[in-house]
Amino acid sequence: MVDSVYRTRSLGVAAEGLPDQYADGQAARVWQLYIGDTRSRTAEYRSWLLALLRQHRCRSVLDVACGTGVDSIMLLEEGFQVTSVDASDKMLKYALKERWERRKEEPFDRWVIEEANWLTLEKDLEKPGDGFDAVICLGNSFAHLPDFKGDQSDHKLALRNIASMVRPGGVLVIDHRNYDHILATGCAPPGKNIYYKSDLTKDITTSVLLVNNKAHMVTLDYTVQVPPTEVGADPELSKFRLSYYPHRLEAFTALLKGAFQGKCQHSVLGDFQPYTPGQAHVPCYFIHVVKKTG
Ligand SMILES: C[S@@+](CC[C@H](N)C(=O)[O-])C[C@H]1O[C@@H](n2cnc3c(N)ncnc32)[C@H](O)[C@@H]1O
Repeated sequence: MVDSVYRTRSLGVAAEGLPDQYADGQAARVWQLYIGDTRSRTAEYRSWLLALLRQHRCRSVLDVACGTGVDSIMLLEEGFQVTSVDASDKMLKYALKERWERRKEEPFDRWVIEEANWLTLEKDLEKPGDGFDAVICLGNSFAHLPDFKGDQSDHKLALRNIASMVRPGGVLVIDHRNYDHILATGCAPPGKNIYYKSDLTKDITTSVLLVNNKAHMVTLDYTVQVPPTEVGADPELSKFRLSYYPHRLEAFTALLKGAFQGKCQHSVLGDFQPYTPGQAHVPCYFIHVVKKTG
């Protein structure tokens, strides 16, 4: 993330001038190691997501932050028609490789992968008819978008563009870390992380940047142990840094409803389980499900 206050380690530029935090390839290279075993990661929410998509009779799914393709691949294997986009070519490279290697399987042969930025999504991606049956944005992806102008106008634009890709009656599933907890305590909630649970993750250091006494950015410094046989002996390859806009639950819910102009039904889960504010278990992630009604 690059903004007027703070510069992160990766200063590359992706599509349409978006600072791509993955541009130096450091995170992309060790992403699979960070995620851990792909199937055990998706097992956490696979049955929940499949049930939701089936309940809403979804066939076509847009993965709007596909990264290396972990969720898209899970859905392709379940027979969904998947379109996957991401702003980072360094991340997309791994999805493209998988599509090529599995091209003889029909869903993979039909898998659409495009480079696209949420801020210019309507231009970057052709919407099929009324839109996709479902749009997913998982793995704390949306929080990567900085608040460039300090008024959240870019967040609003990106969410409007993402919401516009959902057909009436379709659903958006979008998540973010529990920044309420991170801002209150300075640390991520204890316990296992539903998305990223590799034994190779050795350390995640949390920093919170305040500007005019308002939380402006949360930076996580990750240290992932890379087996020497995989990428050689360079210890730098095991470190990467990502910065996020700390979306609070209530404020993000309001942003989402605004993006759908109130024509939606909204619900929220904690770590893919039913969530009640004030409950004993502190979730690592909030997952918003928004059904477009208009
Ligand atoms: C944390 S990764 C998650 C990828 C994948 N969903 C997963 O869980 O493994 C976040 C992804 O969001 C993408 N991203 C960030 N800002 C974006 C934007 N403005 N438009 C499109 N993609 C963006 C990044 O390039 C990155 O691949």
